[in-house]
Amino acid sequence: MPVLQKALLSASRRPGLRRVVTGTPVSRRVVDRFVAGETLPDALGAVRELAADGIAVTLDHLGEDVTDRAEATRSRDAYLAALDGLAPLGLGRAAEVSVKLSAFGQALPVGGDDVALALVRPVVEAATALGTTVTVDMEGSPTVDSTLAIVAELRREHPGTGAVLQAMLHRTEDDARTLAVPGSRVRLVKGAYQEPATVAHQDKAAVDAAYARCLETLVRGGGHPMAGTHDPAMIDRLLALVAETGRAADSYEFQLLYGIRPEEQVRLARAGHTVRAYVPYGADWYGYFMRRLAERPANLQFFLRSLATR
Ligand code: FDA
Repeated sequence: MPVLQKALLSASRRPGLRRVVTGTPVSRRVVDRFVAGETLPDALGAVRELAADGIAVTLDHLGEDVTDRAEATRSRDAYLAALDGLAPLGLGRAAEVSVKLSAFGQALPVGGDDVALALVRPVVEAATALGTTVTVDMEGSPTVDSTLAIVAELRREHPGTGAVLQAMLHRTEDDARTLAVPGSRVRLVKGAYQEPATVAHQDKAAVDAAYARCLETLVRGGGHPMAGTHDPAMIDRLLALVAETGRAADSYEFQLLYGIRPEEQVRLARAGHTVRAYVPYGADWYGYFMRRLAERPANLQFFLRSLATR
């Protein structure tokens, strides 16, 4: 992994730097490119615009790594409010939510897994009542077992609950085989966290090759694969695989992040594919924003230029 990328990813988890970056009057233009706004009405505005272009959404209330139960409870309440806000739009499965278990208390020193499960369950119940689903994001590698176990538990009563697999992790090819079963919704991503060589591929070519292999496993399996990527090569790979396997358009998804390759999102939707944009909103944008900077040096240059020309 390039040095700059490592530095940005490590900065994304440092509370001191978080205070510096978020305390600076950062050019809104840069953050606004990746984040739909700070409030739920902002996010619902973005949902309406995307829906008008035939693009489905998964809403993400920004927040992660909470350190107390009260904060975790506020995450639950924010998601319940988001689902209430989506209800009048009548979008059904075209508007779901994505959650990070670390925002629901997974990392609390005592009983974090139980706290996260107890707080995320009402969100999943509310989503089911609304006729939609929840996808559980994947965070750093130490949380993978706990996160997959919580998804499995939620799926017992809410089988539409989605999991995320990160192609960069060595274990993921096995996990993809396990999860490529009927009814199983799986978003495959490359992985946005800094991981050691013991658990993850370190160079881009190896990650890309692993992504292609896992995608094939998921598409040839019986579940509902969701390709979370902007990479033209991986998008072409999914197009080729669905053509070859004859999968119906509602049995797989392209998923892209809000603000990234928006013209490609529209192009794929107009071609008849299901496209879902991951739409983050909220005040706690620091970790999400730093991961987007790390993914692409051009984003960092844009950010630094905006600071300089303020
Ligand atoms: P890659 O990084 O190779 O980029 C391919 C091309 O896409 C670039 O050349 C550029 O054109 C464009 N691009 C990629 N990133 C960009 C950026 N930040 N800004 C502008 N252009 C960019 N990760 C994780 O660990 N856990 C998770 O739960 C999720 N969830 C998730 C949901 C969805 C819908 C997506 C699309 C991604 C995630 N991710 C994630 C992030 C994922 O792991 C990965 O870091 C990014 O998607 C970047 O990888 P790509 O597959 O896009 O390829």
